[in-house]
Amino acid sequence: MKHLLSLENLSRADMEIILASSATVKRQRGKSASMPLAGQTWALIFAKASTRTRVSFEVGLRELGANVMFLSAVDIQLGRGEPIKDTARVLGRMVHGVVFRTFAQADVEEFAHYANIPTINALTDEEHPCQILTDIFTYQEQRGPIQGKVVTFVGDGACNVPASWVFAAAKLGFELRIAAPKEFQPPLALLERAGFTHVHAQATGSGEVITGHLTATGAKIVLTADLSAAAAGADLLYTDVWVSMGKEAEAADRIRVLTGYQINQSLVKLANPGALVMHCLPAYRGKEIDDETFEANAATIFSEAENRLHTQKAIIAWLVGAAI
Ligand code: CP
Ligand code: NVA
Repeated sequence: MKHLLSLENLSRADMEIILASSATVKRQRGKSASMPLAGQTWALIFAKASTRTRVSFEVGLRELGANVMFLSAVDIQLGRGEPIKDTARVLGRMVHGVVFRTFAQADVEEFAHYANIPTINALTDEEHPCQILTDIFTYQEQRGPIQGKVVTFVGDGACNVPASWVFAAAKLGFELRIAAPKEFQPPLALLERAGFTHVHAQATGSGEVITGHLTATGAKIVLTADLSAAAAGADLLYTDVWVSMGKEAEAADRIRVLTGYQINQSLVKLANPGALVMHCLPAYRGKEIDDETFEANAATIFSEAENRLHTQKAIIAWLVGAAI
């Protein structure tokens, strides 16, 4: 039984299969009569808001032949405290697969264990694997292999999206720089879990810089508060919201500490010529990105959003062993 619960536990070979078949799925959209999920019903259980993930999974599952049921977590007994493992054992006897967006990573993992049907993490507090697979597909579609490139993440470096980037960098062998104030950098334990070794801190004029390497893949990680240094020579500038879902009570503090960690025109000038600017969306203009830079890169950003559909269809095909 395969699941897609994290990039931490997805092998490089499986990532490459999904990335390659995303291109095929995209090319064949509307042309292929293949319905590998015909006769199946899949459930989407969402405990947090969503536009892209919900719509792309609903459309993608239907295009693969499945019936789709959207379940807001607050409307089912789960929202009143029924245990995950009981919900999972009920759904596992009725539906053929589940796409689950919630808070704790452990809940998605527990669900997959007890439901015993293909289960996909549609975002937890710890990871957003479908997003980062899509982002890498989008980068490679426009610029070729990401291996050996420099990806600079700007903003809240301690949330789900950068965590999935850390695992992707380790496996696919690129350099990931996270530009964030100290308290919004990922914990060192995460770098170690991803396999980075020789993780060391160096004091510089603009604060402590943490670097780590993974020699088997050629990956490198840099954590720094120095935004300009992180952007210099980058091939991809990437950002996410400063206030993730579930962190609303911290909004004022987060905005105060993260102000300045923005992708804007002066930052883009420091990156490599032809560098892409991407955003997982939703975007808050004037916070993590300015309006001018967002609109100048809208073609890429909305291709990235569209590609959620294609990459997630490729993920589902990989999960159920369907030929693409
Ligand atoms: N990027 C992303 O997951 O968007 P939604 O929250 O709208 O699904
Ligand atoms: N880090 C963001 C991602 C939104 C797609 C959040 O968790 O809200």
